Order: sequence, then C-alpha cells, then structure tokens
Amino acid sequence: MKRKFLLVFVCLLCSCSAFANVEYKSDVPPILVQGAMIVETDFLISSLESPVSYKIREWDFTAGKIDGYPVVISKTESGVINATAATILGIENFKPVAVINQGTAGGHDPKLHTGDIVLSEKTFSGSSWRSGYKAEGEGVDYKNIEMLSKDFYYDGEKRERENEDGIYLYSDKNLIAIAESLKDSYTEGKVIKGVILTADSWESQVDRILFLHEKFGSSCEEMENYAAASICQDYDIPFLGIRILSNTALHQENFKPETGLTCQKFVLEFLREYIKTIK
Ligand code: 5AD
Repeated sequence: MKRKFLLVFVCLLCSCSAFANVEYKSDVPPILVQGAMIVETDFLISSLESPVSYKIREWDFTAGKIDGYPVVISKTESGVINATAATILGIENFKPVAVINQGTAGGHDPKLHTGDIVLSEKTFSGSSWRSGYKAEGEGVDYKNIEMLSKDFYYDGEKRERENEDGIYLYSDKNLIAIAESLKDSYTEGKVIKGVILTADSWESQVDRILFLHEKFGSSCEEMENYAAASICQDYDIPFLGIRILSNTALHQENFKPETGLTCQKFVLEFLREYIKTIK
C-alpha cells in the first residue's frame, strides 16, 4: 500500500515539472490569447511580430509581439479538457498578465445572429447537473435539473465560490470595458455583454436552447470558455471571453467558419487598445 502511495507521489511530481518546460523570456508578462481551432488562431498568429513557436505536449503556442508588447497565441483544441490543459500549460510556461479566450459559438439568445459578438460577462458549465428522478417508462424531462458546478469549484482553501449566484464565473471588468469601447467600430454585427454556456456538446434543438436561455440567461454556447475562466480564477489572472456567433439553430443559420477570422480581427483591435493601457 505504502509503495502505491509513493508511486502516485512520484508520478505527480513528474507531471508537475512537465507543466513548465519551455524557455520563454520576457521583460513584461505577455497576454495569452486562446482559440480552439485554426480558423480561430491563424490570423492572430500571422499578426505577431517575430513569432516563435512552441509545442508543449500536444498543444501549440506561438509567442511574438503586437505593437511591441508580448502576446502568446495558444491553440487549445476543442473541448473542456483540452481548454483546461492548455490554460494550465499556458499560465505555467508564459506567466501571462491576462488570458483572453476567443472564437466561435452557437446562439442561445433569439436577438442574436451570426456575426454578433458576446463578451463573456458571466460564464457557466452547461454540463454539470443532476436530473430529478423519474422511474422507468416515465420519460425524460430535460428541464428537471439542479445545477452542480458550484460544488465542484473551490477558491483555494475555502473550497467554495466567492460569488453569490453560484454557478457563474465573471470576466475581468476592466477587460470587458476595453472590449465594449470597440462596439461602435465593429461593423459585422452587434457587440453585447452576455452569458456564455460551456459544455462538450452542441445543441441543435430549439426548445432546449430556449430553455437554457430562459433559465440561465445564456447568450451563446461553446466548448472552452468556462474551463479557461475557472483555471484563471484559481490562478487569480484577469480573464475575458470573446465569442462570435458562427451559427444559431434559433434562426437556422449554419456554422460559418469565416466568422472565426472576423472574431480574430475584433480581438486584434481589442489587444491594441488593451496594450495601450498596460505598456
Ligand atoms: N455549440 C458548441 N460549440 C460550438 N462552437 C461553435 N459553435 C458551437 C455550438 N453551437 C465551437 C466550440 C468548439 C468548436 C466545435 O466550435 O467552442 O471549439
């Protein structure tokens, strides 16, 4: 038994040192910008001055500068697990001043269309729930659920969330304000402050989407934002989610990959404004 514990401990130590294995040097902490897919990262990578690529385990990071300030673009790959791993690796290796999670999303708010941008004022896990009991043959009721994510998350030793409304994590107010200041210059749609639902799933059923929107106020859904926000809260690093609607079942608008580029262009403008304030 003792041996087993020792083995687990050694494995943990090994995996800890594997977190930080990149020689990255910068006088000032970089901004870490995440996107899950190539269509969400290619333009930002091509906008970097003096880019240097790093591969950490299976995750790609490209470090460079924008307007002379260090920025690291991280391709997280899709989904909660990938986003969690990439966020930890990104923070441990590059020690960022802030993390921006950006990319495409599907609409939950009937007022939103493809091209509209949601700034993640709040984000929550759309897959952490317990359904109310039903016996065999009684059918399935997706509305009869109690949210659980509050119980999973802890702030250091307190083992509880600081905010009262339980399931949500909040983005940094200063970062939201900078992104909001760009709203009038964005010509491809609206820019709103909203709620991002994260889960490893893609909803296409209108009644379920409307239920989620009405019950939790979700503006859109995607697969990474909450995971990154949660790790940033743990590390106490300012976080902002920026998501463009690439599709919305509510209006039968199918996935448009070009929106990934539109979002990156907005994020580049955001970075320029943010960099002015921290340079
Ligand atoms: N539901 C879930 N994820 C979506 N994405 C874009 N639209 C949706 C949607 N309707 C994003 C996810 C993931 C990839 C499949 O695209 O964040 O990275």
